[in-house]
Amino acid sequence: MRVKIRFGKKMQRAWLVKAVVMVVAWLQVPLVRSLEIGFYATRCPAAERIVSRLVHLASRHDPTLPAALLRLHYHDCFVGGCDASVLLDSAPGYPPPEKMALSNRSLRGFNMVDMIKRVLEAVCPGTVSCADILALSARDAVVLAGGPSWKVPTGRRDGRLSSAVLARISIPRPQFSAVQLKKNFLWHGMSTAEMIVLSGAHTIGSAHCVSFWDRLYHHNFTNGTDPSMASYHAEQLKKICPISSYKSKQRVPLDPITPFKFDNMYYKNLNMGLGLLASDQVIHDKLTSVLSSNSTLWERSFCKAMVHLGNLNVKTGSRGEIRRNCRRRN
Ligand SMILES: *[C@@H]1O[C@H](CO)[C@@H](O)[C@H](O)[C@H]1NC(C)=O
Ligand SMILES: *[C@@H]1O[C@H](CO)[C@@H](O)[C@H](O)[C@H]1NC(C)=O
Ligand SMILES: *[C@@H]1O[C@H](CO)[C@@H](O)[C@H](O)[C@H]1NC(C)=O
Ligand SMILES: *[C@@H]1O[C@H](CO)[C@@H](O)[C@H](O)[C@H]1NC(C)=O
Repeated sequence: MRVKIRFGKKMQRAWLVKAVVMVVAWLQVPLVRSLEIGFYATRCPAAERIVSRLVHLASRHDPTLPAALLRLHYHDCFVGGCDASVLLDSAPGYPPPEKMALSNRSLRGFNMVDMIKRVLEAVCPGTVSCADILALSARDAVVLAGGPSWKVPTGRRDGRLSSAVLARISIPRPQFSAVQLKKNFLWHGMSTAEMIVLSGAHTIGSAHCVSFWDRLYHHNFTNGTDPSMASYHAEQLKKICPISSYKSKQRVPLDPITPFKFDNMYYKNLNMGLGLLASDQVIHDKLTSVLSSNSTLWERSFCKAMVHLGNLNVKTGSRGEIRRNCRRRN
């Protein structure tokens, strides 16, 4: 008899737990809806094709565009999630936006995103989010530069918050040590391996002298040059970026060997002390050596890490909005 009663109570508890789980699951449906590959297939079938076509055309005139677009997506995702917050201009009544943070000096590609958005608004008004445009054009940029392709899950919605302060604390700095880089990525929910794999994006793109000036002239608070930089490379860089170049607009390719090709040369460079930023050279380790000798492994890992990056803190379902103009909240 007693056994039966206990059994009954257990059953009740099990039912209660089930009911709670169901209610919670039901409540969360609009909140945790995840991204889908081909989200626009029925909503705006031409969307993905339009993005890739426009990125393709524009990159013919500006071979530096792919790196800029890839960086925009990364900066977007690393500051409060992939919600196109990086695209918002300053607006009265709102705090200074991400663009105004120190790193804004070198963010580019905003006009390109505006152009893509204008075309998409003409074809499918109010349908394709600015955050998805960033994610898709990052993939297309990599492909254009000769890198691997991946299916981009879409369905992101655009956020209404953008903060220069948050950008300042969220984006790793070029002077970061390996420990700081690991901590930063972990804070974003990404592993050290993913940090190393995504750093490989520096196989294209360029940096201003100021980003590595310390390494040339004031390594670790001395008057010396960073000994982890190949000395012949340091000598060349000092010619391009003299000691007075702290504020120069001069740009230097992150990958001096194949600056426009999306390959694993970045990791080969690290083996030779040709990493440009301190945050490049400090990640030189066993994994970077493996990636330098196995481009298939790097490409596969890179695609996976990009999908993870593109999932960070996305807004779906009823959260966020589809901006009509990527620079302004609706
Ligand atoms: C970057 O911020 C400065 C102010 O700090 C501003 O004058 C400039 O227009 C910003 N650049 C972009 C691209 O928004
Ligand atoms: C910087 O210099 C200090 C003191 O000279 C030394 O202990 C430290 O290991 C150096 N750090 C690097 C990254 O070289
Ligand atoms: C670096 O050079 C400056 C000027 O030449 C000198 O005043 C300073 O003491 C030097 N610092 C170190 C750490 O050697
Ligand atoms: C490169 O990595 C791939 C994927 O992990 C693996 O299948 C392949 O055996 C590796 N190639 C070499 C030469 O190690």
